Amino acid sequence: MQIVEKSAQLPSASALVPTMGALHEGHASLIRQAREISENVVVSIFVNPLQFNDTSDLLKYPRTPESDENLARESGASTLWLPQEDEIYPGEIEKLSAGVVGEKFEGLGRPGHFSGVLTVVKRLFDLAKPEWAIFGEKDFQQLFLIEKMVKEENLKVKIIRAKTIRSEGGLALSSRNIHLDHKDKRAALVIWRALSAADTSADVHQATEAMKLALATEPAFTCEYAVIIDEETFGIATNESKSKRAIIAGWINGVRLIDNRPMSQAHA
Ligand code: PAF
Repeated sequence: MQIVEKSAQLPSASALVPTMGALHEGHASLIRQAREISENVVVSIFVNPLQFNDTSDLLKYPRTPESDENLARESGASTLWLPQEDEIYPGEIEKLSAGVVGEKFEGLGRPGHFSGVLTVVKRLFDLAKPEWAIFGEKDFQQLFLIEKMVKEENLKVKIIRAKTIRSEGGLALSSRNIHLDHKDKRAALVIWRALSAADTSADVHQATEAMKLALATEPAFTCEYAVIIDEETFGIATNESKSKRAIIAGWINGVRLIDNRPMSQAHA
């Protein structure tokens, strides 16, 4: 695996895995999936200041360069790209807007977060010119907005959706899980039970109720939102929506968790 800073040193026809470092098993699975598509797998690590609205969060963001390098190599990356800020943001660059979808759910408490994500992802694409780029379905709102940007900006890159990796019982892998102890992790399984309960009815109202009832069985879980969205608009789904997805965010013992699951049910 080569380690480079300048985009001019990147291979062509690559599959790009954009990250902010602190790599874990979820990233490893994105890298392995990228390897199935291309021999040139570029993993980028850039902690993007534009997507933090709080400087202390940016400073606190975990930085684990040595274990990142090992994980990227062992998972099959051919290039580890550590872009410098002056190449990503050389003076005036075009700032993208995530629009109204960027302001709801995960964007509600973080104004400008998704615009910052789109701006950096577009810069990474412009510099690396990858043929493919891989993003996890776990951050479904981010994935939705990136796919929308690619369509609207007519970008050449093909976006690959990577399935969420779950531990036994269904807990989605996340760097935040290290803050959960054994008891918290057991409590957090309620999220997957609730997403699964939502998938037992094709009727949006009933599915939402089933999801909320399931969440209410776990006193350690504080729900922030639990809704069914229309995958085409990211608005609240109706029974007429062609594809629907249940999305949940909430707290366990001071740790904020998000997850989602597509609804397999046909129309009500
Ligand atoms: O999901 C992330 O790690 C980041 O939001 C991304 C896509 C690498 C952009 O900084």
